[in-house]
Amino acid sequence: MKQTITVIRGDGIGPSIVDATLKILDKVNAGLEYRFVDAGLVAMERHGELLPATTVDAIAQHGVTLKGPLTTPVGEGFTSINVALRKKFSLYANLRPVKSFAGTQARYEDIDILTVRENTEGMYSGLGQELSDDGETAKATSIITRTGARNILEFAFETARREGRKKVTAVHKANILKSTSGLFLKTAREIAKAYPDIEFNEMIVDNTCMQLVMNPHQFDVIVTTNLFGDIISDLCAGLVGGLGMAPGANIGKDCAIFEAVHGSAPDIAGQNIANPTSVILAAIQMLNYLNKPEQAARILHALTDVIASGDRVTRDLGGNGSTTDFTQAVLERL
Ligand code: NAI
Ligand code: MG
Repeated sequence: MKQTITVIRGDGIGPSIVDATLKILDKVNAGLEYRFVDAGLVAMERHGELLPATTVDAIAQHGVTLKGPLTTPVGEGFTSINVALRKKFSLYANLRPVKSFAGTQARYEDIDILTVRENTEGMYSGLGQELSDDGETAKATSIITRTGARNILEFAFETARREGRKKVTAVHKANILKSTSGLFLKTAREIAKAYPDIEFNEMIVDNTCMQLVMNPHQFDVIVTTNLFGDIISDLCAGLVGGLGMAPGANIGKDCAIFEAVHGSAPDIAGQNIANPTSVILAAIQMLNYLNKPEQAARILHALTDVIASGDRVTRDLGGNGSTTDFTQAVLERL
């Protein structure tokens, strides 16, 4: 029986790179059916709201969603739909893996780092946002709960174990942020004891940034709070050739949303030149989540081969292939 997943094609370059990915999923007989719903600017135009109820219902009903990037209109009153979705479905774990691909002009080879970012708490809790009447003082509340910390840390260690990874680094700033980062670090030390098979170390976030640039091969899994994870995962994307190469999975207890780390790229939308790699890599994460590792591996193999050979790759990878050409090159190898 085919499994239905929700598909949000998204704004800007979204539809072109999501459609490319669906062709690839169909080619490997992934056994999926698609329920298309709208969010973002497209939904605003068609339904008068950025996140229609039918979209929310579809995400809840089918459990697994593949999502293109969404444009957040600039201006008062618009909050990011991505942040809204992560909160609404308690997608507490954001998995952002980066891997080196031969054939890119990245600074390093053999990078394989998984950032596990807490996705609902910390500085992005959205709570206590205040600006004083005289406009002189701004406040925001950072919240770390023991349960939230435990959930993300267990998730990181379990993922490390399942993927055969050797080391988990908890990234923090507990020397200054005694309460919030302090609770996160204390919980990390406790949870680590239950995983004697995995090496555990802790590192202060500013040093981590320097270490990632100077000596990235020391890292395997990084687990950290929301704000640090946001910044560190972009740094990691920079180690392997940029945003076009970075997927992200947002995972909760009942629901998961797979997407690219990048946005809708309005500067290149409609030109058929976007690199579909990050959404294809997100689909590979999704297939593994759906327990279809064989199809996931086949796609990764074909994609790796296309990028290594430079055959019809897109501009950001140093070629002059279009999105369609690149996709065709992957399909031919499959
Ligand atoms: P962006 O990530 O869309 O683009 C940054 C730069 O990277 C641009 O020069 C773009 O052309 C390039 N780029 C991005 N993806 C690419 C790809 N697949 N192939 C080749 N080049 C690529 O960031 P920007 O311009 O700051 O944001 C545009 C819109 O996207 C905003 O409305 C923002 O809110 C939204 N956004 C949505 C996200 C999501 O839905 N998860 C994440 C980040 C931003
Ligand atoms: Mg970010």
